[in-house]
Amino acid sequence: MCGIVGVVGKPARDVLLNGLKNLEYRGYDSAGIYLNDLQGHQYLTKAVGRIKNLEAKLTPDEQGVVGIAHTRWATHGKPTVANAHPQYSSDNRFYLVHNGVIENYATLKNKYLSDVEFHSDTDTEVIVQLVDKFAREDNLPAFAAFKKVLNLVEGSYAFLLVDNTEPDHIFIAKNKSPMMLGVGDGFNIIASDAISVLDQTRTFIDLHDGDVADVTKDKIVIEDLQGNAVDRPAKELDIDPNASSKGTYEFFMLKEIDEQPAVMRRLAQDYFDGNNVKVDPAIVQAAADSDRIYILAAGTSYHAGLVGKNLLEKYTGIPVEVGLASEFGYHFPRLSKKPFFIFLTQSGETADSRVVLTQVNDRQLPSLTITNVEGSTLSREATYTMLLKAGPEIAVASTKAYTAQVAVQAILAKAVGEKLGLQVARDFDLKHQLGLAAEGMQQLVDGKEKIDELAKKYLATTRNAFYIGRGVDYAVALEGALKLKEVSYIQTEGFAAAELKHGTIALIEKGTPVVALINDPATADLTRGNIREVQSRGANVIVFAAKEFAQPGDDVVLPQIEYYLSPLVTVVPAQLLAYYASKNKGLDVDKPRNLAKSVTVE
Ligand code: AGP
Ligand code: GLU
Repeated sequence: MCGIVGVVGKPARDVLLNGLKNLEYRGYDSAGIYLNDLQGHQYLTKAVGRIKNLEAKLTPDEQGVVGIAHTRWATHGKPTVANAHPQYSSDNRFYLVHNGVIENYATLKNKYLSDVEFHSDTDTEVIVQLVDKFAREDNLPAFAAFKKVLNLVEGSYAFLLVDNTEPDHIFIAKNKSPMMLGVGDGFNIIASDAISVLDQTRTFIDLHDGDVADVTKDKIVIEDLQGNAVDRPAKELDIDPNASSKGTYEFFMLKEIDEQPAVMRRLAQDYFDGNNVKVDPAIVQAAADSDRIYILAAGTSYHAGLVGKNLLEKYTGIPVEVGLASEFGYHFPRLSKKPFFIFLTQSGETADSRVVLTQVNDRQLPSLTITNVEGSTLSREATYTMLLKAGPEIAVASTKAYTAQVAVQAILAKAVGEKLGLQVARDFDLKHQLGLAAEGMQQLVDGKEKIDELAKKYLATTRNAFYIGRGVDYAVALEGALKLKEVSYIQTEGFAAAELKHGTIALIEKGTPVVALINDPATADLTRGNIREVQSRGANVIVFAAKEFAQPGDDVVLPQIEYYLSPLVTVVPAQLLAYYASKNKGLDVDKPRNLAKSVTVE
């Protein structure tokens, strides 16, 4: 979902372009850059499509020591050069980049700017024109005019603003959209996330919603919207700079699939003290006190929640409800008397999930965010946080975060179950199981060429495909289907295996690929029957079966682990199948069309 970068106090052009490239994984449709050399020269260049198109338009003399840059994911106005950011005021004084959505832009435009000629269709332009109007008509300095506008705005934003009458300042403001403020030596830098500018600094200030700041090369003044000084400490971030590079991999997605065994081992190390599970006692107590757990998420994280439901109900005895955040946020069900909310979110910035968390906070109910990004919005705003410790996940298609979410939910389940005195939780040899999962994942990624062959054989030309499974395999079928469709654009549906015959089997015809998942002891034989049903109608069936249920001819034999943890291994060939289907079609595996890594709009 778009990227913003700003720097003041050092040669800016390459720093900005490099920062944008590190943010490409977030998804975008156009890009732009503003530079000022503090010698009276300013430059504005914008392009549709990839950042390389922007670079191709830049001339050598376009340089500066202050600059702001942007990759846009259009919400208001088509992806055109005119709609690309930076947006600017009609008198070419103010330049603004924005991530987010201004909900009341039309009201502001009609009320204050009816006499202004606009050059874009964006909501963002309304803001920069209004800053200019207040600065001119009220004779306000830029920072004051900016704050006056911000007090009128409704919506989400990460703003970077430059006034060319005082170009050694970058004025910034944050509300709901991600923004990190980096502190350099003789310069300061701002970006959508810390990873994108980690080559510049490792010291960052976590801005909160409602913060505004006046940033120069050697000074940072942070205030609230009323102009009161706000103190935000700077801290060193513990992020491995190499984690956000592809190394020898062609795509991040394969790198991150391959990293999953290591993630399992790290979780087995960090969340255990010997064989004893180690979770913040306050989190354990809060969950143990509840009479119902609500898991809210979107996309892949929602699918991880479906697996978490099985783990939490088995090992804690507490009923669990899993909801799509986007639905739950506007249709709250009748809650139990003592609910506990869990938000599963790799990015910690998903707007749909945040809508629910805001309402949970308004009701003063306890919440836990399980996320991969320390200091993210959903982490900061929840009562508690547990980290996935999966390392930066750059590919739009989530892989290692999904398996980490399943594992961390299992860790929580064991800890809460033990707190409740349940023998089943005490007997749950989770640390050993995570080790088995790591070994099993390693076996599967080592055998990836087999999956590439399956992709070439069955998925090269098909327009549609199915995943089928029962029990916890149904949740994995949903995730396998999402992976395949989001990176290869093959229309894929995940189905409860027995449900297919209640109508959808009409779509099965000669050559239709069907991936069947078999881990469920209770229904393994029945799923074999469902396989025969689709085969008799011409389907090409790919079988991923646990060792205990495997039969000659199955395509992948899955390592045997605790049934409710089996998604940790079953999902790996599904992830690889999607990866190879996309790669073999020559698609941009890491940045699929229309998608963003973090969906920060509703
Ligand atoms: C997963 O492959 C997708 N990229 C998408 O469904 C993602 O899981 C969803 O947008 C939720 O993101 P989050 O985990 O950061 O909240
Ligand atoms: N709403 C703004 C636009 O459509 C910004 C979108 C974004 O976050 O990139 O230009």
